[in-house]
Amino acid sequence: MPVSQRSAGAAIEIRKASKRYGRFTALNDIDLHIRPGEFMTLLGPSGSGKTTTLNLIAGFTDITSGVLEIGGKSVTGLPSHKRNIGVVFQHYALFPHMTVGKNVAYPLTLRGIKGDERDKRVHRALDMVKMADFAHRYPSELSGGQQQRVALARALVFDPPLLLMDEPLGALDKKLREWLQLEIKRIHRELGTTFVYVTHDQEEALVLSDRIAVFNGGRIEQIGTGRELYDSPATLFVGRFIGESTILRGTAEISGGDTVMTIGGQKVLAHGHLAGDARPVILLRPERLALKRTGADIVSGENRLAGTVVEAIYLGSGSKYEIRLADGTTAVVRSPLGSADFAIGDTVDVTFLPSDLILLPDDASADVTLT
Ligand SMILES: Nc1ncnc2c1ncn2[C@@H]1O[C@H](COP(=O)(O)OP(=O)(O)O)[C@@H](O)[C@H]1O
Ligand SMILES: [Mg+2]
Repeated sequence: MPVSQRSAGAAIEIRKASKRYGRFTALNDIDLHIRPGEFMTLLGPSGSGKTTTLNLIAGFTDITSGVLEIGGKSVTGLPSHKRNIGVVFQHYALFPHMTVGKNVAYPLTLRGIKGDERDKRVHRALDMVKMADFAHRYPSELSGGQQQRVALARALVFDPPLLLMDEPLGALDKKLREWLQLEIKRIHRELGTTFVYVTHDQEEALVLSDRIAVFNGGRIEQIGTGRELYDSPATLFVGRFIGESTILRGTAEISGGDTVMTIGGQKVLAHGHLAGDARPVILLRPERLALKRTGADIVSGENRLAGTVVEAIYLGSGSKYEIRLADGTTAVVRSPLGSADFAIGDTVDVTFLPSDLILLPDDASADVTLT
């Protein structure tokens, strides 16, 4: 049975929200606006405040200060069970003594929905997660992935305008996780419900999300599409957390409005400069770098850093290299299929245009807490 009923997704507005436990600040002055029907992922390392944010929205805990609105209304003081929100946790909280069908019917029973209407909705929800044939099984007779699909059906069966998920695939193996990511994406597209999804896995965030909020130490560092975060990270932490990168540090001078960095005795030109007296670093994405044999013709305007190949990996879709540069930094380079091959020990130049690098303020805290 196709899912035809689309519920209107709820907007969420969080302004200047903080959460303190005694003297410890778990969330520090966050602003987060989630659009109706959006798939928003809260991404960050362990302990950065993702679950706390989800718990505030769900009503499992209260904000210490700030504003939280769901569907345009303040929910401060409104208990969790009156918020009409679907929730899925990492550890499937199915009732072990109830069949799959009874588990999924439970939220409807709570809401006084009975008989044919209830059966119809249970079937529709199980059908959506491809578990309609399992209605008579008990949770102990299901795999972890099947239990999570039932938990998802139970969270959606009452057509909530908002679904919250906290690392729902965290306990599953990689293949199953990747398949369920696509299932969750499909269900989101079919329903129009607002999804708020917590993960520490940046690849999962990129696969699923319309936008991603990157958490670090109880703050949100940046909110944007995967493309925005990858191509234009606002901070070094975001740039390092999303995707692969090489970070170059050196001494910087501003010349004619541009930044010239000296790295291991070699000069690199970056267009523009940072505001104020922030110390600049250069962030490079692996597919923006090209490898050339030492002494190959110089393309006008390109930056070149000499190095030695220390790792060469054939990936089928291309090759990945690690290059030890003069200053000891290891640069990661991804070359497309058909480009020249290099071997470990080759001396090479890593080349890139000024428009291919990202200039960011240095931030020592970006070096820690990467998971
Ligand atoms: N009930 C609590 N009492 C005290 N500290 C807490 C409580 N819940 C969470 N914290 C702390 O708040 C911080 C953020 O936690 P959490 O939101 O669970 O992080 P995440 O989900 O990003 O891993 C952590 O340092 C955690 O130890
Ligand atoms: Mg958590």
